[in-house]
Amino acid sequence: MDNGRKPSAHEACGDAPWLVLLAAGKGTRLAAQTGGRPKQFLRYRGRPLYWQSVCTCVASGLMGGVVLVLPMDEFEENRARALEFAREEKLPFPLLFARGGARRQDSVLAGLRLVPEHVSHVLVHDAARPFFSADLCRALLQRLREGACAVIPGLAVKDTIKQVDGEGTVLATPDRSALRAVQTPQGFDRRLLLEAHKALNTEANTVTDDASLMEAAGHRVSVVDGEEANLKITTAADLQSLAQAVPCTGFSYDVHRYGGTRPLVLGGLAIPSEYTIAAHSDGDVLLHALMDALLGMIGKGDIGELFPDSDPAFDGASSVGLLARVLELVREAGVTLTHADVTIIAQKPRLGAYKKDIRANLAALLGLGESHVNVKATTEEGLGFTGELLGIKACAIVAGIAKGTPGRAE
Ligand code: CTP
Ligand code: MG
Repeated sequence: MDNGRKPSAHEACGDAPWLVLLAAGKGTRLAAQTGGRPKQFLRYRGRPLYWQSVCTCVASGLMGGVVLVLPMDEFEENRARALEFAREEKLPFPLLFARGGARRQDSVLAGLRLVPEHVSHVLVHDAARPFFSADLCRALLQRLREGACAVIPGLAVKDTIKQVDGEGTVLATPDRSALRAVQTPQGFDRRLLLEAHKALNTEANTVTDDASLMEAAGHRVSVVDGEEANLKITTAADLQSLAQAVPCTGFSYDVHRYGGTRPLVLGGLAIPSEYTIAAHSDGDVLLHALMDALLGMIGKGDIGELFPDSDPAFDGASSVGLLARVLELVREAGVTLTHADVTIIAQKPRLGAYKKDIRANLAALLGLGESHVNVKATTEEGLGFTGELLGIKACAIVAGIAKGTPGRAE
């Protein structure tokens, strides 16, 4: 049941601690958001969430091995998948697998039983806390090496905590300065923790962390500073912390011919001019380029697909209205537009005097501050179709931030 990796001499002499990684819970409090899939299997950085904890162990260079505790259901499939990751990433330590139990502590005991007997210290960690640091492991292990038998990370509590009864009536207000909110990984003398788990393995002794069992067994438990970032993914709001900000961009270019029936409109602003536009819609070349850039940014094709000129509904359609629809798609795609830079290319009319107003109008239409919108105008020095006064063109580039929503691991 392992990745075939033999313990090194260093590990074999017992001085490298192991991690028991708990990934056997059902994630019931998040079931509605994950479609019932346990939260430790949500996709994060291309792997199931639990793998992030294995990565931190590797990066720390501190651990001698990991026991991954997986749910009974789909145990073989999940084990095979984890072994695949271990192979791909050339995991530098053994990875063993245990079948989890009904309660968290049953899963811990199953994992602890697999830690080799020569190992003196273990860290027990919830896979639902993917953001713990190697520094935290170092601090815990340091205290264990100094002789502690149980060390846990804790944070001072910010809220006043009340003890209440079943009806919600306050029974007591403990002194806040003496309270700590505790986290995992929690570090232990392996043998003593195993003994405590075995000795106190009754229904009455159902606990939510391992330190509780060490306390009940009469051992001294010390607290080191926990980490604010080390949150446990528990409720829907916590899922936000898994969403990664991904920068994205879109670019486009559009051309309109002079000589039609539409008055010249650029960025939603009417430009007094002797030049008119031949176009199916209102012929706002700047907004057309901008809309295509926005669609490019969210991978949604182009305005030709979205608003076909074969459809009479778009005959003379206001580009401002079409832009509103495109911006709705940007929002639906979970992308926040952050910047737009546009260039209008025309020999005539001269546009210098209108750039400021076009910029203000675009900023209002896009819901951006003016410092995040830029409008440039240039000529092509009398060359090409703009130089020959046959038409006008525009380029647009946009930037945004996409929030990667946590998908499910396959
Ligand atoms: N865990 C476990 N075995 C169990 C119960 C929990 O390995 N029988 C693990 C979870 O996978 C999680 C950690 O213990 O990594 C902390 O538990 P918790 O946050 O309560 O997770 P769940 O029990 O899965 O969630 P819930 O309580 O909402 O069902
Ligand atoms: Mg639970």
